[in-house]
Amino acid sequence: TKIISIVGTRPQFIKAALVSKKLREKGVKEILVHTGQHYDFNMSDVFFKELGLPEPDYYLGIGSGNHGEQTGKMLIEIEKVLLKEKPDIVIVYGDTNSTLAGALAAAKLHIPVAHVEAGLRSYNKKMPEEINRVLTDHISTWLFTPTKTAVENLHKEGISKGVYQVGDVMFDIALESINRVDEEKVLSKYGLKPKEFILATIHRAENTDFRENLINIWEALNEIASYGYRIIFPTHPRTKKALNEAGININFKNENLLLIEPVSYFEMLALEKNAKLIITDSGGVQKEGYFWETPCVIPRNETEWIELVKIEFNKLAGNKAEAIVKYSLEVLNGEKQYNIIEHLYGKGDASDKIIEVLTQGW
Ligand code: UD1
Ligand code: UDP
Repeated sequence: TKIISIVGTRPQFIKAALVSKKLREKGVKEILVHTGQHYDFNMSDVFFKELGLPEPDYYLGIGSGNHGEQTGKMLIEIEKVLLKEKPDIVIVYGDTNSTLAGALAAAKLHIPVAHVEAGLRSYNKKMPEEINRVLTDHISTWLFTPTKTAVENLHKEGISKGVYQVGDVMFDIALESINRVDEEKVLSKYGLKPKEFILATIHRAENTDFRENLINIWEALNEIASYGYRIIFPTHPRTKKALNEAGININFKNENLLLIEPVSYFEMLALEKNAKLIITDSGGVQKEGYFWETPCVIPRNETEWIELVKIEFNKLAGNKAEAIVKYSLEVLNGEKQYNIIEHLYGKGDASDKIIEVLTQGW
């Protein structure tokens, strides 16, 4: 029996790491396919090294491009691999173009698809990820959901067969990794003190491709920094490019607004855990904040991780500077304690449960 796992972007390397390790420990033949959607050292290799992911068996080298072009090239190359390897199952993760291409190529060849992180919805079809998620869910055989909300979302679309609420594989890997992180070393590397800084990440298409939104967020960060709060901002390559194109000088010297290259996963965990506040439009980061009891202000109008907004842990701020600043200052100056009251993302055993379901009867 053979499983092909398809990954291609930063969050997918992280999501796949434990599942892949455990599959192999169980003696399952796993073939790892890397589409090459992310290819910079600090967007790809660093995660393979840090998380001990095996070298990909196939590196497709697709790279960047428009959605149709990128997804189309992936389809062509993934199909070739599937025809050659004839796997019994294909596993895809999350909601990127690599996810959709993997699922679609497999489903058309009648190879059953397992979708890890199924059922998430923002209900905003302008997001490329929303299209990827909905389509992938509708052609998957196994739908592994991280939350109860995700199960309900699937039910609303008439999907109930094959749905397993297993918890979140990102919680598994975060718990497994945090003890291996030298937090003090990371903080001293960037000259930061615990709970005295803000961590920011931005990369959503709606915030990078629309100049107005990008500039609003940029102004909000500058205003917050001008009040004396330190912000560390590991900058996604897409955002760096967009800032440059918007004519913003990112090589300026401002010790309160520190733009750095994307960091490794372990460094990121240390930064999230020790930040007083996170400002992010990342799906993964807003939820990892909760793992470490660090609240997030989200410069978006909707989120897939709605349960954290409902319990008033995270705040949706939209893409206007004023609201981003206002909600950030509320956290920074307020008395509210942000503690975990409920484990919303499982018990850290989502990857075990996934493997149990997939290998039943083998
Ligand atoms: C992709 C996913 C998004 C996910 C994110 C994780 C899609 C549609 N989007 O967005 O859901 O949240 O990954 O980070 O699949 N670039 C580089 N080097 C790299 C990778 C990208 O310079 O290694 C630059 C290129 O200019 C590229 C741009 O970033 O055009 C965007 O990359 P792309 O993979 O298309 O989308 P992301 O914004 O990374
Ligand atoms: N991450 C990282 N280094 C960074 C930024 C993010 O290791 O500089 C990790 C982060 O901890 C999380 C994942 O990458 O596990 C989230 O990926 P990203 O924000 O790129 O995508 P999204 O979750 O929005 O799809």
